[in-house]
Amino acid sequence: MNISEITLAKLNPKQFITEKCAELRQTVGDGVAINALSGGVDSSVVTLLAHKALGEQLRTYFIDHGLMRDGEPEQVVALFKKHGVNVIRVDARKEFFGALKGQTDPEKKRQAITDAFYKKVFGKLVKQSRATFLLHGTILTDVEETVAGIKRQHNILTQLGIDTRKAYGYTVLEPLINLRKPAVRRVGAALGLPASVYNRPPFPGPALAARIIGEVTPQKIELVRQATAIVEKELAGSRAFQYLAILHEDRVTGIRNGQRDFGHQIEVRCWDSRDAVTATPTALPFKTLVKLGRLITANVPGVVSVTYNITAKPPSTIEAI
Ligand code: XMP
Repeated sequence: MNISEITLAKLNPKQFITEKCAELRQTVGDGVAINALSGGVDSSVVTLLAHKALGEQLRTYFIDHGLMRDGEPEQVVALFKKHGVNVIRVDARKEFFGALKGQTDPEKKRQAITDAFYKKVFGKLVKQSRATFLLHGTILTDVEETVAGIKRQHNILTQLGIDTRKAYGYTVLEPLINLRKPAVRRVGAALGLPASVYNRPPFPGPALAARIIGEVTPQKIELVRQATAIVEKELAGSRAFQYLAILHEDRVTGIRNGQRDFGHQIEVRCWDSRDAVTATPTALPFKTLVKLGRLITANVPGVVSVTYNITAKPPSTIEAI
């Protein structure tokens, strides 16, 4: 796999945008391209870039798989509306929770999400839209880790030797593939995205499902969603690369109102990193950690234990699956 990197030092964002837009227009011609917007940095940048290049020839979908953070679907759709992108929201919660039912192995969970995404939900949308191009926010880091066999990123197909035209009927276009995250952010800024989007901590394709150990159910997603809201609010000013909450599969004994309470465990992770390839845990003030523990146990039903990850990547990864 030989993909040349456009480093931050080499990147001229305006020129990159002009070139990529021209490339996209030429490739798509008078065809239709579709893309799925999650609201993360990469997919937001690719959406605005492709919208700039293709206008009405781009159909942007927000797949509401039920695995998103609190209020996220509404916020994402509203933001892009402001930028003139008419995002189509698709309710696919049944398909995703159905696919995840009974799955406990991390790779099988990722695979179930990939399959639900492309075969059950996106495949249908592609057929309906008659699109022959699919735009993806794949970045260089995704490719390297997938090719190295570390993880199956859900947005990597071509690099795994999957012929998307044969398998799904469309060609995948990956305009950000030469960039790492800091360069993607710079392109986002040049495209006019608000800093809250281009500077926002990354969020994985499998969304909150990447933060549940064991089977993913709507109830567990709701727990991790509530813990996530607390962690994100409290650590917003931390300047860390990424921060998240993970719901453990194990239960632990706790005590509440003098009664034994066999409850849930939440693990908080907060990372310092340049590009997510390696990362170290942020040295958060101890009082911040204690406050997180207090807020999460007080507000997330059934949680009796909160831990902080003190392991670097590697051997840890940033997400839990
Ligand atoms: P890991 O957990 O592999 O995460 O150390 C590295 C970075 O990638 C994000 N991540 C993903 N991004 N699709 C994505 O677009 C995915 O399937 C995915 N999985 C992890 C993660 O949040 C971190 O920033």
